[in-house]
Amino acid sequence: MAEGIVARGEKTTIRWFERADVDKRQRWTRHTDPLYSHNDPRPMVGRERDLWFLERSSSSSYRMFAVDDLQEEMIGWITLRNINKSAGTSVLGIAIEPTRMSQGLGTDALMAFLDYYFRSLGFREMWLDVAAFNLRGIRCYEKCGFRFVGKHWTEHPTSAFPAVLSDQKYKDIAHYFRRSMLGVEVLYLDMVVDRTSYYRQKAANKNAGDSGEESGRLHQRRVASW
Ligand SMILES: CC(C)(COP(=O)(O)OP(=O)(O)OC[C@H]1O[C@@H](n2cnc3c(N)ncnc32)[C@H](O)[C@@H]1OP(=O)(O)O)[C@@H](O)C(=O)NCCC(=O)NCCS
Repeated sequence: MAEGIVARGEKTTIRWFERADVDKRQRWTRHTDPLYSHNDPRPMVGRERDLWFLERSSSSSYRMFAVDDLQEEMIGWITLRNINKSAGTSVLGIAIEPTRMSQGLGTDALMAFLDYYFRSLGFREMWLDVAAFNLRGIRCYEKCGFRFVGKHWTEHPTSAFPAVLSDQKYKDIAHYFRRSMLGVEVLYLDMVVDRTSYYRQKAANKNAGDSGEESGRLHQRRVASW
């Protein structure tokens, strides 16, 4: 494997995140959907970018990886936070460049990364929490073997939230939001995948009998029941 590359999917390559990737990520297109704008990188100038990179790359409980497409364009990143080496656990963060979402890249990258995570790094479990309205993210995680284990309400910084509570456009997801003393809270779902579930899911994904339409319908039902 080439220097820095840790995993290869069918559509993506995952490698160590370098200082130059901070600049690449700053050039990503911003989200047009205000529900996702908190995923946009905070604008930073040169020295700030150096410090941002230094701070994150020197922490022992945090790791960053870049996701490239097959043309070696950086189209995503994966982060691990709250790394607990003795427990073999961490918490996932993942984002795909907004114009490249829903093209199978996130699932491809995460599936490839999980193999590296369990097999090479020797972790036992990966955790995450995801906004309940983020059906695309949840679907991606389920296809990688994650399962629901809990839920919690939390504050979330998005300018769209007042609109979510009143605008008819958001009526289907309005129940995932509630007013609180401090503003607006969002329902988050807790998910986890362990080594066994991941490899079982990987085998299931290869099974031609796993019809996308059927599993999509089941997915909607599972999310609704949470
Ligand atoms: C979440 C994210 C990483 C997923 O990566 P992606 O490349 O966009 O996702 P994929 O194309 O691999 O898979 C998305 C799946 O969700 C499905 N999907 C898309 N929109 C959906 C919706 N509104 N409802 C249900 N399923 C949906 C797609 O059909 C696809 O499933 P399929 O392969 O069975 O057809 C990416 O969308 C992203 O970066 N989003 C913004 C940031 C974010 O939400 N990060 C995660 C925070 S926890």
